[in-house]
Amino acid sequence: MDTPNALRSGWASRFGFILAATGSAVGLGNIWKFPYITGIHGGGAFVLVYLLCILLLGLPIMVAELLIGRCGQRDAIGSFMVLEGRKSPWRLVGWGSVAAAFVLLSFYSVVAGWSFDYVCKAATGILHRGNPEQISGLFGELTASAPRLVFWQALFILTTVGIVIGGIRGGIERWSKILMPGLFGLLILLFLHGMFSPGGMQSLKFMFVPDFTKLTSRSLLDALGHAFFTLSLGAGVMITYGSYLDPEADLFGLSFRIALLDTLVAMLASLTIFSVVFSAGMPIDGGPGLVFKTLPILFMQLPFGKVLALVFFLLLAFAALTSAISMLEVVVAYVIDEWGWRRAKATSFGGGAAFLLGIPCALSFNLWEGIKLLPGRTVFQSFDMLVSSYLLPLGGLMVSLYAGWVWTKEREKPASCRLADSGVLFAVWHFLVRYLAPAAVLLVLLNEAGLFS
Ligand code: PHE
Repeated sequence: MDTPNALRSGWASRFGFILAATGSAVGLGNIWKFPYITGIHGGGAFVLVYLLCILLLGLPIMVAELLIGRCGQRDAIGSFMVLEGRKSPWRLVGWGSVAAAFVLLSFYSVVAGWSFDYVCKAATGILHRGNPEQISGLFGELTASAPRLVFWQALFILTTVGIVIGGIRGGIERWSKILMPGLFGLLILLFLHGMFSPGGMQSLKFMFVPDFTKLTSRSLLDALGHAFFTLSLGAGVMITYGSYLDPEADLFGLSFRIALLDTLVAMLASLTIFSVVFSAGMPIDGGPGLVFKTLPILFMQLPFGKVLALVFFLLLAFAALTSAISMLEVVVAYVIDEWGWRRAKATSFGGGAAFLLGIPCALSFNLWEGIKLLPGRTVFQSFDMLVSSYLLPLGGLMVSLYAGWVWTKEREKPASCRLADSGVLFAVWHFLVRYLAPAAVLLVLLNEAGLFS
């Protein structure tokens, strides 16, 4: 049955959709990764390039993904089959996205599990005992323990399954409506605290006064790659979430709001983290350990540090959860739509399989540290590279090629396949997905493949 389904029951409201899609976009990428790469690339100028990438490349591809899903009314693979025929090679783009979402869930849940562990550490006060060395050593203790990593990873996936099993309205939308306002509230609280701290001004300057001498070709490429990851593009999320949208929804307007909120969270999180780091006079380019090793030490020295640490790690856990939900939903929608399974069975199956695949990722921090999948990379690092550096950009590239070159105006017949604005906005969008986005993403992919090094 490769004709569009009857409109499926979807989001209860557009606001609910915005929260769920923003929940997918806002994740470890915003709170953990963006601050540390901004630190490494020297602040302002990098931020500016990143903003341009979001606006000129990420946003048009998000519109394209939502459009494909809403027109196809199916999962990420099925939508391409509806639009192009069951045997069309375009369905492989769907396959790549579902695979990306599945593998991503398996290793994302390991890192997300750390945030659960740190919530407990903060709540029980363990995070505030001992000297700075002991506190940053807690991170190494956690990753060295295989049973603890697997336990937290299991708990995280179980929570994700518990939400997705409730369906679009009763699970994903309902929980996004609780978790996302919670996340914004917690973030604003931390942000205000950060801005009034001694490092507040300095962190504003670092983020918004560009110093173009700090820009390298690597920073341009990192900005582009991250713009992709942070908007959850190339993993079928926006296709799947778009398939539950009503035909009248304005995809330009919705995408703009999602990208804006996602960017806002990344900015606020970075400003907050930098203000803490500057206040303590620590180096800003601390790399991936910034959030789990450096921040807890700094929280310890701040007034209300115990509460702030708890709030921060809760924030991280919420953000990770609403992203993981969307990854699981990509897989679940596929199993429901294409295999005809019921949601409960599909969700348990998808979650269980991602958990099993995640175990080697967790073990690659300890027992299996010596096992390399790709040259010089542990299982975790190999999965991360496969998904973040190849599958997501490749998915995005194909979606933009599809939207720019294959998608024709004739197809814009049913309301669900139409973009609200067919004038200037449409023309700009079409130009971007046809020329700029494919060219830029291709550049990143070739660079990742080592062509320029
Ligand atoms: N956008 C999420 C983040 O920033 C990651 C993600 C990528 C989620 C792709 C779903 C799909 O953490």
